Amino acid sequence: MARLKVIKSKQFFEEGTVEHLAQVPSGGNRPEVDWKKAKLIGKAVDRVDGYDKVSGTAEFTFDVHLPQMAHARILRSPHPHAQIKRIRTSRAEALPGVLAVITRENTPKTPWYGDTFIFDPHSRYIGDEVACVAAETEEIAEEALRLIEVKYEILPFVTDPVKAAEGTIPPFHEAGHLLHGEAEEYQRGDIDAGFAGADVIVEDSFTTQVAVHNTMEPHCSVVNWEGNKLRVWDSTQGIYHVRDQLAEFFKLPSSNVQVTTRYMGGGFGSKLRAGKHTVIAALLSRRIGRPVRIALDRREQNLSAGNRPDSIQRLKIGAKSDGTLTAMSFSALGSSGAYSSSARCFWPFMTMYKCENVSVEQRSAFTNLGKGEPFRAPGHPQGTFALDSILDELAEKIGMDPLDLRLKNYAEIDQVSGQPYTSKKLREAYKQGARRFGWREKFRPPGSDKGPLKRGVGLASQIWWGGGGPPAGVTVKLNRDGSVSAIAGSQDLGTGTCTFIAQVVAEALEIPVQRVEVTLGKTAVGPYCPSSGGSVTAPSVAPAAHDAAMQVRDTLIEGAAAILETPKEELLYRDGTISVGGNSGRRLTIGEVIGEMREQTIVRTGLRAANPEGYMIQTFGVQFAEVEVDTMTGKVRVIRVVAAHDVGRTLNRKLLENQFEGGIIMGISLALLEERIVDEYTGKVLTTNLHDYKLPTVLDTPQIETIVVDNHDTTANSLGVKGVGEPPIIPTAGAIANAVYNAIGVRIRSLPITPDRVLTALQA
Ligand code: MOS
Repeated sequence: MARLKVIKSKQFFEEGTVEHLAQVPSGGNRPEVDWKKAKLIGKAVDRVDGYDKVSGTAEFTFDVHLPQMAHARILRSPHPHAQIKRIRTSRAEALPGVLAVITRENTPKTPWYGDTFIFDPHSRYIGDEVACVAAETEEIAEEALRLIEVKYEILPFVTDPVKAAEGTIPPFHEAGHLLHGEAEEYQRGDIDAGFAGADVIVEDSFTTQVAVHNTMEPHCSVVNWEGNKLRVWDSTQGIYHVRDQLAEFFKLPSSNVQVTTRYMGGGFGSKLRAGKHTVIAALLSRRIGRPVRIALDRREQNLSAGNRPDSIQRLKIGAKSDGTLTAMSFSALGSSGAYSSSARCFWPFMTMYKCENVSVEQRSAFTNLGKGEPFRAPGHPQGTFALDSILDELAEKIGMDPLDLRLKNYAEIDQVSGQPYTSKKLREAYKQGARRFGWREKFRPPGSDKGPLKRGVGLASQIWWGGGGPPAGVTVKLNRDGSVSAIAGSQDLGTGTCTFIAQVVAEALEIPVQRVEVTLGKTAVGPYCPSSGGSVTAPSVAPAAHDAAMQVRDTLIEGAAAILETPKEELLYRDGTISVGGNSGRRLTIGEVIGEMREQTIVRTGLRAANPEGYMIQTFGVQFAEVEVDTMTGKVRVIRVVAAHDVGRTLNRKLLENQFEGGIIMGISLALLEERIVDEYTGKVLTTNLHDYKLPTVLDTPQIETIVVDNHDTTANSLGVKGVGEPPIIPTAGAIANAVYNAIGVRIRSLPITPDRVLTALQA
């Protein structure tokens, strides 16, 4: 038997994780779609599920109700740091309507988050899980929580990462790769020689806040056991990942765990892993023999569902007087929260601009607060804010236009690996963006406006992964009536995955997009697809969908050749019909072809082919912002953002603009509004609702213009697609901070740029 060739392939995921995977070669390397003839790809096709969403018929996990379903509420620690000495649940259990109470006493001692447990006797932050009640209603469960008696031994705590890193309190984890003081480090070239060779050196510090994902749909799960099969409806970005985590925890074959996510109200990185609440619901469901629903409320989400870590960044850059960077050094500290996670934000610093001599040091400190989780382009918005701020300081010092300084230090190859990019059209993005924005005309010396309302402009650049990769599979099924089903183990977290799969399949088969019914979000039926994080979904799944549809197309042509008794080379496939030459010959619709074939349905699974060896796949962009600062009130208003990016081929112009608008609004929010505020004397989070935790509204939304430079990166994958979920949020805060400086001539070095900070800076 011939040996199968195994291809090693790279996959790029969140925070630059590169996994090397072996993959059996598939038919994934299809010839490129003829771009000029495309009827659907790249067009502004409506969301296939848009009507279900706006009409309210779409069923989110939050809406799932099963017969006999019980409701669960979690008891959370009220202390920032404590040892649980004793828990008494008898009064809670006696409350009418209570079905079960679980604590560490009556649940398996299976580790979760490294060496800690679902209900850990060592409680590390306000919000840590202590017990959970299942009851007939959510209200009864909530009431029962108050009847659970817990004896805590209070321990010293720390909420400030600086104090935590100084070792103010003893370490509160036995082990972990990011304990106090342990740094992630990176170096290239000779940093001292680089600074020695500089004509100008700029040094500055920047801080960014903790931000909370605050997804519209809270984290929630509905769980039911059918014998030893675990059925889970979950609001998750990764159905397969949740399935595998649950299978491992409950020691079940993974086929016994079925995870479903149909409609989803946002994740932004906070729903990449199975939540403790999901495991807790499954434990309760097993105990009471009924389905259990658990939904975190807004307060729980702000305490326990993850966050974008804060940062204190110290940057130093050296340059020649012509702007050429000679040395760059970076050191940062941020909060992990109570469990292991990294606050790293150095990647843009290492790679965005060309520089031979670079040193990076990042520390992450455990604090007695909720754990950090990936949050839309983890690390990059905060790292880019600091990097592009200090570059503007350099530009001013040497009297150079900030745009010219970026062009001067344009990186032609990946600065870390030394590898070429599959493609990089950032230069073109700078050009088109600057032209649309009117950069050359609008950029004036800082503080040029005379009155109390001062306008200013600023820019910042973007780099991110977003190349995706294998494994990803899509199954396409053609029915006898010519209707088509596409089935994949991906999930649509609101970005439009269903829609682009329908487009790609319809394009390949040359049929209307409405004829393709897409089923996602079911591990029970869909072939494996990656978690939707790291902007990998479209570049991983779209080529697989294309491959599957092209296999169906090939099979149809073979079927038609048999039916028409004509060699397949003489058949013409066009608009969902197959004909023998020109208009004169016999013409069959694809429904007629499959109708006469023995198979009854044609089912083919397409796979994502390997990424090319020896290349880095990255997305790039630049954003230009114009702001108006009211120097009487300190309020910053963003007037306009022009975003020009290289994110590969556009699959759907509407979905793409959705991502840009959402990402930029989120970036504005990070720049001006959002901040988790903690009282360091009590360890309490003071912003646990959407009144105190500020999110933008439509009134805070500026004019947003999206330019995507034409780039079909077919070196990256067969469709030339890259991800677009994260790139738009990355440069927004940096561009706004530079624009604020340009308006008022005073630099704000801390996010968010609140009226208070602006007024204080103006006074100083
Ligand atoms: Mo990741 S922060 O879910 O894209």
